[in-house]
Amino acid sequence: MGIIIRRFKGELLILIVFLSPFFFFAGCSDNYNALKAKALMEERCVQCHKLFTPDVKTDEQWEQIVPRMNQRMVEKNMPILNMKETNDIIRFLQENN
Ligand code: HEC
Repeated sequence: MGIIIRRFKGELLILIVFLSPFFFFAGCSDNYNALKAKALMEERCVQCHKLFTPDVKTDEQWEQIVPRMNQRMVEKNMPILNMKETNDIIRFLQENN
């Protein structure tokens, strides 16, 4: 997987940028659980910087930022959030800002 990410980093980034709106709309999440989303955020969103609280951004900003953080994870060869994880974190942030 690491070597695939290294070789196709450019393509992966483009793919992620194009697919992220789809990810957001496609999964308007079944089985959403706020506590799980919060826990996931507290686990994954502190790996590069401090934990941002939901109130620091608007709904529209969170929609852009979380997929961008997936790109940052690609750049660091870190595993990215899947579609449901991405959607759940966005939803949690939007419901608590
Ligand atoms: C791979 C490292 C990494 C991870 C993991 C990560 N971030 Fe970030 N984050 C960054 C970097 C680098 C920046 C500054 C560049 C940028 O804004 O894209 C940043 C900036 C931010 C900002 C400020 C953006 C702005 O425009 O003011 C917010 C808010 C944020 N991250 C939230 C999150 C959330 C929520 C998660 C979890 C889904 C997360 N980050 C996970 C690397 C990461």
